Amino acid sequence: MAIKTVLRMGDPILLQQALPVTQFDTPELHALIQDMQDTMAYMNGAGIAAPQIGVSLQVVIFGVGSNPRYPDAEQVPYTVLINPVLAPIQDEMEDGWEGCLSVPNMRGIVPRHTRLHYTGFDQFGNPIDRLVSGFHARVVQHECDHLNGILYPMRIKNLKDFGFTDVLFPNQDIQDD
Ligand code: NI
Repeated sequence: MAIKTVLRMGDPILLQQALPVTQFDTPELHALIQDMQDTMAYMNGAGIAAPQIGVSLQVVIFGVGSNPRYPDAEQVPYTVLINPVLAPIQDEMEDGWEGCLSVPNMRGIVPRHTRLHYTGFDQFGNPIDRLVSGFHARVVQHECDHLNGILYPMRIKNLKDFGFTDVLFPNQDIQDD
């Protein structure tokens, strides 16, 4: 379909609460997901949320095979997740570096729940119900934050842990975003 412009931090759409999807398996929903896929692939993202391309609906996609943005990351299955509900398991949190297509060329350390139960639907209305941990759990929390108007810099505990990717990691060939 199309590679869309990714909204960047400062755009008020990124701060909105996204609305739930009410109809599944529609041409409009499939077209939205195709645009999100095309845009994520073009930007080498690990995930993208619909509000990032200007559509304030509760739709995220994510997946990590071998990704130049996350060379050491665990793989995450490609997933379309709609109307997600997240339930952390226990209080355990862990810190990890994150980036975001809406905050280009920067990275920050963000605490996330280590283990997570999440539910939702795919684009056909089939239920999704998973228990995940580690990087998969981190990606889901990051993407679903976008549906609540939260960008990862808002979760950084110490702004000393926030900076430009090429300055933080000068010897690594991490792709610009
Ligand atoms: Ni993001």
